[in-house]
Amino acid sequence: MTEQTPVNETTAVKATPTLPDAQTVTEIEHYTDRLFRFRCTRPASLRFRSGEFVMIGLMGDPHPETGKRKPLLRAYSIASPSWDEELEFYSIKVQDGPLTSKLQHIQPGDEIILRPKPVGTLVHDALLPGKRIWFFATGTGFAPFASLLREPQTYEDYDEVIITHTCREVGELTYGRDLIESLKTDELLNEVIGEGFWKKIKYYPTTTREESPKMGRITDLMKSGEAFKDLGVEPLNPESDRAMICGNLAFNLELKEMFEEYGLEEGANSKPAHYVVEKAFLD
Ligand code: A2P
Repeated sequence: MTEQTPVNETTAVKATPTLPDAQTVTEIEHYTDRLFRFRCTRPASLRFRSGEFVMIGLMGDPHPETGKRKPLLRAYSIASPSWDEELEFYSIKVQDGPLTSKLQHIQPGDEIILRPKPVGTLVHDALLPGKRIWFFATGTGFAPFASLLREPQTYEDYDEVIITHTCREVGELTYGRDLIESLKTDELLNEVIGEGFWKKIKYYPTTTREESPKMGRITDLMKSGEAFKDLGVEPLNPESDRAMICGNLAFNLELKEMFEEYGLEEGANSKPAHYVVEKAFLD
């Protein structure tokens, strides 16, 4: 569990908003030239379900004629769990991306804009009860699962939790790998779910453009049966398996097609079923 800074006078003063819906950045970590994570203060009124997203951003440049500045906002999955006092986000850096070209330079103490209206389909409520839950991510699509992997309900509801993460390069796996490793010493989860709860997790990282112990797209590894053999489980079936998908568009569509072949049906908040899908943020 991440240690929380108690709210004292200094942090309270710093968090005083000067922008509409402003929150203060508290921590930043860069992983590669394409990826970073940051933490910020959480609005006292913000309630969300682990796996949901919010709109966040910065003020845009002044309009060349009017000089007016408008907020530049994008949808970001909240990577921290619902119980955390702060919020965490995991972001791509696109050098000519309107938002992330600027967002990548934020420092602790800076302000970001956060609209406190969480939404999303990657929530436990959108799935029927099952035995095993699969989280399928590519790239920054890991973010909602960083939240759900720290959410006690994940382990209360399922006997087994399988997380697959496909990235181009090895360095892009660091955030997810570190997070999963940190779960072993997560005080809250060990206390609420029980010591050794993390043994329910099977982590399956793969890379496609740099040498690593397991290479290939997860979709291909499932089609060939290799992934199921490695994990020691049967292919997904509607009786026992539930799944959440968060990746690039082609990945989401390919997995959806595969799931329909397995007999799984897509769920929603209003109609829980076997799997749910969300597009990972791209600038
Ligand atoms: P690949 O390198 O073969 O394109 P990106 O950074 O472009 O969003 O991709 C993240 C990861 O997702 C990459 O490893 C990429 O593999 C993989 N990927 C892209 N499209 C698919 C797909 N349709 N099915 C599975 N993996 C995919």
